[in-house]
Amino acid sequence: MAELSTWFMGLKLKNPLVVAASGLTSTPEGVEKAVQAGAGAVVLKSLFEEQILAELGSEEQGLDLDAYPDAEAFISRTAWEEGTGKYLDLVQKAKEKAQDVPVFASINCVGTGKWANFAREIEKAGADALELNIAFMPFSTAASAKEIEEHILSTVKEVRLSTRLPIEVKLGQQYSSLPNLAKSIAREQANALVFFNRFYKFDIDISGMKLTSAPVTSSPDEYHESLRWISLLFQRAGIELSAATGIHSAQTALKFLLAGASTFQVCSGIYKNGWKFVSGMLDDLGALMDEQGFASVDAVRGKLSAHNAQKPEEYLRLQYIKALTGIN
Ligand SMILES: Cc1cc2nc3c(=O)[nH]c(=O)nc-3n(C[C@H](O)[C@H](O)[C@H](O)COP(=O)(O)O)c2cc1C
Repeated sequence: MAELSTWFMGLKLKNPLVVAASGLTSTPEGVEKAVQAGAGAVVLKSLFEEQILAELGSEEQGLDLDAYPDAEAFISRTAWEEGTGKYLDLVQKAKEKAQDVPVFASINCVGTGKWANFAREIEKAGADALELNIAFMPFSTAASAKEIEEHILSTVKEVRLSTRLPIEVKLGQQYSSLPNLAKSIAREQANALVFFNRFYKFDIDISGMKLTSAPVTSSPDEYHESLRWISLLFQRAGIELSAATGIHSAQTALKFLLAGASTFQVCSGIYKNGWKFVSGMLDDLGALMDEQGFASVDAVRGKLSAHNAQKPEEYLRLQYIKALTGIN
């Protein structure tokens, strides 16, 4: 059977499957289930920047959950109310349950960096790495792309000054120059990027004339943008890459390894199928790699990235032109 063990951000993982931050990983029991199912690493449910600021006595207020009823799908009310002490407790207990499986803490932040010293507490509590889930929603017409990116970079900088833990930055898709942002984040000494987070999506209910929630979980056809950017940035931005969103099968997971991902995160697949999704995916991945003649994850990684391509232009707009003109 193919060797699934791998290295990620200097940590040895028994396989590249990472259980993503969600309600599934909001308790030590959830983490234990992820580990028993065979996960290579586990990201804890995010603590929100506002929670940390509220405890620091900052003037900033936490989100009013009553004003955002659907946000409860993403934010456990208990976690919200109990705050940072409970979160550090979660880190500690999750580590005990996970034993040798790395546990990543996660902070959901909008890029202010004011809470960054808390990263030190997370390190002391025993986390193996820290994920920054940077979830800034641009609304002001005055904020330029440059300003927003500077916020992100200053957050990474502040956090890096506070901790020696490996840092992965989980981003959304909407940036004008992702290659430049990726390189700049690498310069601030983050260790990895997670492409991409899947933010809360809304819809409109016509008969009720109101906003509603779009599906909270992803579908299997949502992985293509992540795949594009991982294949484009592998070995080009000076930072490791982890895949996320829409990974519902071993086939998709293998595509991401071929594109250049070091690891891949799964969440919706577990919500839909239970924890057997994790063991099933790992079995299928091993079998698929055997079938394709790959002895190890390292032998797969980046084989089909733009960096290793004979014709990197095929990863760019040329494909689109070909599709339109039918030229081969
Ligand atoms: C119910 C739910 C809760 C989530 N909570 C968090 C969270 O606390 N922090 C975070 O970074 N991402 C959170 N996510 C996003 C997931 O970690 C993941 O990035 C996203 O669902 C895309 O992966 P998937 O297609 O495998 O679901 C949540 C997703 C769901 C469905």
